[in-house]
Amino acid sequence: MRVLAFESSCDETSVALYDHRQGILAHEVYSQLALHAEYGGVVPELASRDHVRKTLPMLKRVLEAAGLQSESIDGIAYTAGPGLIGALLVGAAIARSLAWTWKIPAIGVHHLEGHLLAPMLEEEAPRFPFVALLVSGGHTLLVRVDALGRYHILGDTLDDAVGEAFDKTAKLLGLSYPGGPALEALARQGDPGRFQFPRPMTNRPGLDFSFSGLKTYAMNTLQASGGDEQTRADIAAAFQQAVVDTMIIKCRRALQETGLRQLVIAGGVGANQALREGLDDMVQKEGAVLYYPRMEYCTDNAAMIAYAGCLRLQAGQYEPAAFNARARWSLESL
Ligand code: KG4
Ligand code: ZN
Repeated sequence: MRVLAFESSCDETSVALYDHRQGILAHEVYSQLALHAEYGGVVPELASRDHVRKTLPMLKRVLEAAGLQSESIDGIAYTAGPGLIGALLVGAAIARSLAWTWKIPAIGVHHLEGHLLAPMLEEEAPRFPFVALLVSGGHTLLVRVDALGRYHILGDTLDDAVGEAFDKTAKLLGLSYPGGPALEALARQGDPGRFQFPRPMTNRPGLDFSFSGLKTYAMNTLQASGGDEQTRADIAAAFQQAVVDTMIIKCRRALQETGLRQLVIAGGVGANQALREGLDDMVQKEGAVLYYPRMEYCTDNAAMIAYAGCLRLQAGQYEPAAFNARARWSLESL
């Protein structure tokens, strides 16, 4: 089965073509980062309009890159939520219209299901069941993934998502949006031992997270210490170390509590090298295996939507031409 997919839930436009035997045949991602940079965050209406501009030309290029015509596509998948409603509707409208025109089935995919299954696109793929740490700008979840559509949330954030905490702390340190990668770069110049940040919620049972306190801690430390260049780097390093240590503690606990031996990292913060190295180390000590998708499939992309959509279409799931989109959508309601 060959599936064409669209991702437009936030500020990335992406189109992918996936074949269940050959894997990803073509994939393109366009980031709207520059468009939103001057506002310090994503402006929903600007995002929607840019998806309108970018999607169809991108589709044309993807088909050309794969050397295929529309006749060889068996189904269409698109991100149906959660995300920015206007942006989602652009992808949904395009996907549904093409499916109707080409007389093929189409399915709306849950964005987080895409992230959770993304590592399965790799040659060294995890097998059900596994534990997944989903860390992005909007989510911080520990999920037990039992099968397609069977997700059990083990832990969630009580306040800020981890990517959001990176972005807010980065802004505080004078770095530009999105702050995650910039903070990681600054942390490399810093001494993680100079300041001792707390490891929130680690000394009580449970798998939930809380990150808003770390951001406040960073602000207070910055104010108390003057904030010269080296101090800012030391704060970045201490903040990052606290986040990484917290993740390690919770992920170890999740593996121990579930008895599972595979851990998957998904979502944009999964690009953080310190986090990957820290988790790699922990997982080895636990006798488990760590899986993460390549960078391109870590941040928002249509390849993961194509993959999840293909599994669902193969299972005979698709929806009639009427479509809907959801700005909020619980993963466990699937
Ligand atoms: O999954 P993603 O691309 O978009 C969604 O939120 O859906 O994740 C983006 C988030 C942003 O908060 C960004 O700052 C963070 O991932 N991020 C990082 C790194 N690269 C991206 N955070 C820490 N270290 C990084 N290297
Ligand atoms: Zn995402």
